[in-house]
Amino acid sequence: MEYIHGFTEEEQARLNEQADVLGPIIYKDLDFSEIDNLLEIGCGTGSQTKILLQKNQTMHIEACDISETQLAAARKNLSGESRVNWHLLEADTWPFEDNTFDCVFLCWVLEHVTNSAQILSEAVRVLKNGGRIMLTEVYNRSFQLLPRSECLEKYWDAYNQLQLEMGGDPNVGIKLGNYLFRAGFTDIQSKTLYTHNDQRDREGLLVILEYWENLILSGKDQLLEAKRIDQNLVQQLKQTFENYRQSDETVFFYTGIQAVAKK
Ligand SMILES: C[S@@+](CC[C@H](N)C(=O)[O-])C[C@H]1O[C@@H](n2cnc3c(N)ncnc32)[C@H](O)[C@@H]1O
Repeated sequence: MEYIHGFTEEEQARLNEQADVLGPIIYKDLDFSEIDNLLEIGCGTGSQTKILLQKNQTMHIEACDISETQLAAARKNLSGESRVNWHLLEADTWPFEDNTFDCVFLCWVLEHVTNSAQILSEAVRVLKNGGRIMLTEVYNRSFQLLPRSECLEKYWDAYNQLQLEMGGDPNVGIKLGNYLFRAGFTDIQSKTLYTHNDQRDREGLLVILEYWENLILSGKDQLLEAKRIDQNLVQQLKQTFENYRQSDETVFFYTGIQAVAKK
């Protein structure tokens, strides 16, 4: 599978850190209190799985990914956890019965897939009537880091272009409403999950800059291999982030999109 972030140990550590940094934003309005069993698609290294288990102390989770490397890291991260079963998804049709789950949960997954419609149709099939789907996805066109940097724009354009060419969608977030509607879901709610950081909170700004530098650089091996960027641009980008850390003009803005809907 072609995957813009890759499956290195560094990337796996980034996923865990990402869940911690963004957790308060992602889970702010999600309610798991009535959920007995949850299906997580694209569990990666289990970083969201870990948080989900804390949100409801009795909930059982079937956690799935298409990468055995990610699942191995997830099993290690949550070793001894009896409320989770791990599954390698090998086909577009999931190995679960119809009308099985109270909730299907996906976080930062549809941006990487070529078959969003099939995934949502499987979600409808395996959800119980009245069950809910919860999706948190990217909207990369919203990314703003000021003052403008030519080098950052060049890198970010190359990153998003490569993700599109790999069959993914770096702007899938704003399409979730349409996708869920088409798949037959009801009560579809969507909202922005934005972060807006500037000099009012320098500590918060520094955390978000480090997070985004790591996220953006997680694509560098794939971009270098595809010859979309060179080492020189990578070095310039690192310097650019250093400049943002030092400057008192820096402004950061990004919004992900979260959607919740009912079967
Ligand atoms: C950016 S990671 C997010 C992991 C996790 N949800 C988190 O937030 O930490 C995306 C994950 O989706 C998995 N993935 C990609 N396509 C998939 C598919 N069609 N079905 C299931 N998992 C998929 C990848 O292997 C990867 O582990």
